[in-house]
Amino acid sequence: MKTYLVTGGAGFIGSAFVRHVYRRRRDVRLIVLDAMTYAGNLNNFPRAMKADQKRFKFWWGNVNNLNLVDSLVAQSDVVIHFAAESHVSRSIYDDRIFFETDVCGTQALCQSVVRHRKRVDRFVHVSSSEVYGTNDFPDRPMDEDHPLKPASPYAAAKAGADRLVYSYLRTYDMPGVIVRPFNNYGPRQHLEKAVPRFICGALMGEPLTLHGDGSAQRDWIHVSDNVRALLAIIDADSRLVRGEVFNVGTGRPTSVAKIARMIVDELGVSPDLIVEVHNRPGQVDQHWADTTRIRQRLGWSPRLSLDDGLSRTIDWYRRRERWWRPLLWMRHVPITLPSGETVMH
Ligand SMILES: NC(=O)c1ccc[n+]([C@@H]2O[C@H](COP(=O)([O-])OP(=O)(O)OC[C@H]3O[C@@H](n4cnc5c(N)ncnc54)[C@H](O)[C@@H]3O)[C@@H](O)[C@H]2O)c1
Repeated sequence: MKTYLVTGGAGFIGSAFVRHVYRRRRDVRLIVLDAMTYAGNLNNFPRAMKADQKRFKFWWGNVNNLNLVDSLVAQSDVVIHFAAESHVSRSIYDDRIFFETDVCGTQALCQSVVRHRKRVDRFVHVSSSEVYGTNDFPDRPMDEDHPLKPASPYAAAKAGADRLVYSYLRTYDMPGVIVRPFNNYGPRQHLEKAVPRFICGALMGEPLTLHGDGSAQRDWIHVSDNVRALLAIIDADSRLVRGEVFNVGTGRPTSVAKIARMIVDELGVSPDLIVEVHNRPGQVDQHWADTTRIRQRLGWSPRLSLDDGLSRTIDWYRRRERWWRPLLWMRHVPITLPSGETVMH
């Protein structure tokens, strides 16, 4: 039996990964380490999994707890590091915790992985497309060599963690891989993020607020496709992935305004609900993934189209109001614009 240590496993992507592995891989024991910030949710774990003491263990703890991290890494064959503060607007409102968790927390993991490298076969660091900043060449997709120009404190913290991992790969030959997913969406995503905020707003007949004119483009990938990519990286021959960086996206950019329109169309509500508000400082104009490396090397490609993925996601939120209603008050945070004005984002 293999043991996977999953940090941040109670959050959106981490819990999708944990549920998938629990259901599909009976030869894997899961250890989840999560500090249960506002973004963690124990209801993201199915009851049967929580009761299964043989294959599932939950640790309520912080990635900055060096002793705890070290004792968990020492028991693990694979470490998948999702734990992070993950919201751009929140990083403008209150940035220090982003560097503490995303950068220092990653250093705690790396240090232990190096110490236990005889046991740990693979360390998968979940970085982000945000490390790139806006696409320097908007007429073509961004590959893994695109310059890193993080545009928000969140992006800077993720870029710091990404380069920290890189330094451990080079200095200590750590058995690690850096993964840069583009914008994930799907069930159980916190309402602070655009897609679920739009869906729940439309379900309640409230305005769907676009930052700026909504022309900013993102490469939207369904979380289930991201989970499949992470597993392809975990399963691959080490010679194909060790020390590498992989983008995970669809290769298709779509504007935020178009996403909002697709959601109001699917739910049959008035497009007049879509309104423009102040643009967010640190906004990225365009993200568009070049996924040649992961496609060619690992044979991975996304399966869900944006239409299908969005319609499944809308269906989930329609049925699971009990999950999202308690999060409504955390949709917005106050941020101060360069003009000095403070607005809710
Ligand atoms: N959501 C996206 O579109 C996206 C895209 C690219 C990369 N990522 C990255 O993927 C990872 C997961 O993202 P997500 O959307 O699931 O985030 P999320 O905010 O939903 O979940 C983060 C989880 O980490 C936990 N956590 C926070 N601080 C911690 C700490 N100090 N110690 C232990 N646990 C802690 C939280 O409790 C939560 O369960 C993050 O590293 C994020 O930067 C996300």
